[in-house]
Amino acid sequence: MSPQVELMVDGRRFSAHQGETVLTALNTEFGHIRDFEFRDEKRAGFCYMGACQDCWLWTDSGERIRACSSLVKDGMCLSTDALGLGR
Ligand code: FES
Repeated sequence: MSPQVELMVDGRRFSAHQGETVLTALNTEFGHIRDFEFRDEKRAGFCYMGACQDCWLWTDSGERIRACSSLVKDGMCLSTDALGLGR
């Protein structure tokens, strides 16, 4: 079992395993990664390989990352919207 890391998304703290992608960690913990902007639904990624653009998240420094191609890091602080407001 790989070591655990702590990260936060929209103010919610949770644990993941080192080596997991952010997408896997969020889907495992919450069952989705973000709200769908056009309907009252949740999104959980689609392609899982960096092609569909469904999994953009923002770091606390304002960098935009794809959750499916970014590995979790201890202390990572993420937002599901560009303004860092979360939902
Ligand atoms: S899930 Fe498709 S780009 Fe990340």
